[in-house]
Amino acid sequence: MKKYILFFVIVISNILFLNNTFAQGGMWLPNQLDRNQKDMMSKGCHISAKQIYDEQNASIKDAVVLFGRGCTGEFVSNQGLLFTNHHCGYSEIVKHSTVDHDYLTNGFAAMSLDEELPCPGLTVTLLQYMKDVTSDVLSGVSSSMTEKERQMKVNENIKNIVENTTKGTNLDGYVKALYYGNQYMLYVNKIYKDVRLVVAPPSNIGKFGGDTDNWMWPRHTGDFSVFRVYADANNEPAEYSKNNKPYQPKKFLKISLKDKNEGDFTFVMGYPGTTQQFLTSYAVEDIQNIEDPARIKLRTERLNVYKSAQEESPAKRLRYASDVASIANGWKKWQGEVKGLKFLNAVEKKRQGELNNPLMSQFYELYNDNRKYKLEQLYIGEAVLASDFMYNTRRLLSLIDLSMDNTVTDIVLKTEADNLLSWLDKYYNNDFASHRGVDSMIFVRTMTIFYNDFAKDNYNFLHDKLNKMPIEDYFADIYKTSVLNNPEKIRKVLKDYKRKNYKKLIDDSAVEFLSPIWGQYVNSTREKLTQNNNKLDSLYRINTKHYIDEYNRHNNTKDMSMNNGIFPDANLTMRVTYGNIASFKPKDGITYRHYTTIAGIMEKEEPNIYDYVVEQKLKDIYYNNDIAPYSDRVAFIATNHTTGGNSGSPVMDADGNLIGLNFDRNWEGTMSDILYDKDLCRNITLDIRYCLLIIDKYLEAKNLINELELVK
Ligand code: ARG
Ligand code: ASP
Repeated sequence: MKKYILFFVIVISNILFLNNTFAQGGMWLPNQLDRNQKDMMSKGCHISAKQIYDEQNASIKDAVVLFGRGCTGEFVSNQGLLFTNHHCGYSEIVKHSTVDHDYLTNGFAAMSLDEELPCPGLTVTLLQYMKDVTSDVLSGVSSSMTEKERQMKVNENIKNIVENTTKGTNLDGYVKALYYGNQYMLYVNKIYKDVRLVVAPPSNIGKFGGDTDNWMWPRHTGDFSVFRVYADANNEPAEYSKNNKPYQPKKFLKISLKDKNEGDFTFVMGYPGTTQQFLTSYAVEDIQNIEDPARIKLRTERLNVYKSAQEESPAKRLRYASDVASIANGWKKWQGEVKGLKFLNAVEKKRQGELNNPLMSQFYELYNDNRKYKLEQLYIGEAVLASDFMYNTRRLLSLIDLSMDNTVTDIVLKTEADNLLSWLDKYYNNDFASHRGVDSMIFVRTMTIFYNDFAKDNYNFLHDKLNKMPIEDYFADIYKTSVLNNPEKIRKVLKDYKRKNYKKLIDDSAVEFLSPIWGQYVNSTREKLTQNNNKLDSLYRINTKHYIDEYNRHNNTKDMSMNNGIFPDANLTMRVTYGNIASFKPKDGITYRHYTTIAGIMEKEEPNIYDYVVEQKLKDIYYNNDIAPYSDRVAFIATNHTTGGNSGSPVMDADGNLIGLNFDRNWEGTMSDILYDKDLCRNITLDIRYCLLIIDKYLEAKNLINELELVK
């Protein structure tokens, strides 16, 4: 009886928890979308789940790809033409840009197939099918196994499943855990390796608003780029070859030129990277109060250094552009996340749902124990290895370690030293003379924060030295005296490297400094983290199963994998999310309209501020009203639940026609990775008509427009 009462209390609190934290949003498994069909129809969808995902017949899934390793793209012609975001194609565009052909700044459009630019290393992954393999993965796993034994058995089974599926084929496969290992899904893919750059808008369009507007609505960024996938004579994946032909997809998306209104149904298919909706209150509290603030503080420092360097010259602005873009992206997102979590009272909401849950004390203990190690890992990434100086020192450390290890042969040692030497040669020859000032500042400033906020209390070995002088001087001194800042000297040590040369390195100031910190991290902290994380994983597995069972009991449903109930966290596999175009209220008294127009670009224009320069040609198009058959709309927002990795994803209308490219979220809603809120969270989509306007009227690539199938 007592047991029954306890259980009842848990049920009640869990339902509360479920309602609080899973009521809206969702990144659904495409092969189980029939479970969402009714809900999708009620929101305005006109097509069936089978038209979106079908393994027998061509369906929308055949038009959607994993672009590179962390973005999404979609086919828009029967000749393998592929749309994605500008920020997803950014590094390829940069690689093809030179002073003479500055495609990054001026834009680029191939007027014929032979003008398209190969992108070695870039891949496009096409999902063939996915399959629930839970029982195969768990075969031989028993409840008496330790977490480690379980993991070994699971890994062994996964290896066999993948091997049996792909051996002797051109397929690639992997198995991913869902719901912390309550379910396992096999994904079978073809990976296309000949991908070519077709269109890049000028930066003033593709990155308009830059980091200032990033993560913000209202938005006016023309965030698109175009690629083409090539295949061999049989339409199969092949390495780059002049003889390859444009890939003919089983399905490509038609493009709608119609206006979209508030309330219209939209859905997004793509590759969302990571969400953490099952986190307990303890984890959310740490993210909100400790981890995000520490990251933000360290990155603020780095950004300040880079930004003041950028102000010195246009060359330096370019030199640090991509570093700043990626550092600022996380920096700004975490600030939004903290604000959003606080606004939603996320910790309290989670706590309410955890009342009387007997697992909570174990979670508490584990998070308490893990906090220090997690922070150490965070500081290693965001501070200790933030400067090139320390990154290079770490490479030096591993050479020293290898030299002291007698099982390592002289040949291996020499290869390592040669690799490091050629890396450093490039580093020194690049712009070391001007960059070292910036890098040393990054080193001194991040290390000072690291020392004051973390190391002081956690590393005894630093105290003696630091008692003797001001910390900043101490770090500046390390920088000045290290052999890594004396290119001639380090080159001499590394050239024709002999084992005993390491003795010339071990007393180096940087090596002496980093060695104990790195040593502790590698030899002790990482192991503790793995142990704790394994324990947490197994607790989360039990807890998540528990929530799902409660949900099923409450809703009279049976299936473990609750599509249209509790979705499995994003894990960079194909998902579908759906919602409606919707304005939102960021603050009391303000409503943000659901779309922006070119008028807003003209409003934002600031000829002297890099992010807000507007090209004359765009003004001509706009003021001459040379817009038909497209539109003056630039972007729109909707309630689709998206995350990093969804960039470039097709946003489609009720009929499955392409209406835009997903590229961001609103700042007020960036906590959606942890807790989604339908009133606050919006995905930001580039209106496909702005993309076509730029390709057609600005870049004048009619050849590409002719390939598309437009629906009026
Ligand atoms: N916030 C978007 C995402 O997370 C776009 C990032 C690229 N843009 C930038 N200004 N850094 O990917
Ligand atoms: N901008 C993100 C991306 O690149 C999308 C997001 O986080 O909403 O995938």
